[in-house]
Amino acid sequence: ARRIRVTDFATAKREGRRWAMLTSYDQYTAALFDDAGVWSLLVGDSAANNVYGYDSTLPVTVDELLPLVRAVVRSTRRAFVVGDLPFGSYEAGPGQALQTAIRFMKEGGCHAVKFEGGVRVAEQIAKVTGAGIPVMGHIGFTPQSEHQLGGYRVQGRGDSASRLLEDAHAVAEAGAFAVVLEMVPGELAAQVTAELPIPTVGIGAGPSCDAQVLVWQDMLGLRQGKVTRFVKQYADLASVIGTAAAAYVADVTEGSFPTAAHTFADTPSPAVPSHP
Ligand code: KIV
Ligand code: NA
Repeated sequence: ARRIRVTDFATAKREGRRWAMLTSYDQYTAALFDDAGVWSLLVGDSAANNVYGYDSTLPVTVDELLPLVRAVVRSTRRAFVVGDLPFGSYEAGPGQALQTAIRFMKEGGCHAVKFEGGVRVAEQIAKVTGAGIPVMGHIGFTPQSEHQLGGYRVQGRGDSASRLLEDAHAVAEAGAFAVVLEMVPGELAAQVTAELPIPTVGIGAGPSCDAQVLVWQDMLGLRQGKVTRFVKQYADLASVIGTAAAAYVADVTEGSFPTAAHTFADTPSPAVPSHP
């Protein structure tokens, strides 16, 4: 199957077909999600929390994200791979945004970039798309501005709905091919989806968006602790892996692993694997 392209997202919007997006930061999940029919993979700056162990997205750097972008691109055949510009790599102006976006495309090999903000980054979106690089916008709750927004909270409720609508239109008019709506009331997300010519990708934005995105460690239950309301957990990988690791520890401690079956004899035997 050929690679998904920006034009496929536009066609899907026109035809009212929904598509799924997930984050990925490594070879195995990238290949599995690609085979499962996930149209787009986001190498999110959420790697800060989910790969590097930071407690927010703010510390992660371009140099930390690029190797993950390369791994995901190398491991997919069909998915459209989006690289997420980290905090501090695009806010200074259109020139900085373009330079960072070029690094993601050249060194990361991804197919588009994403960065946070509406009206305030419209010039950046115009500059980057003007250089032939597709941009995915991201409005509503934007984790890189968590300190200014006063924490993880729903955006666009009540009077602030008009500001969210302005942001949505600014992103589309600046040339973005799609826009993430994070933690936005369902009715407002439906209105944005109806008004915008480009697809909306919801995360905590209800069922009316053109597409949905989740962080894979949340969706597959790898991350422990409280799960936010907008996440549906499709598996419990934390207990699968935790239970398996504990069984391994017990086996090694008791001496019940390895057995003869896992051990090389002096003379080769067909029962023994031919390579480690
Ligand atoms: O970095 C990320 O994972 C994201 C998605 C949640 C949209 O930006
Ligand atoms: Na992000």
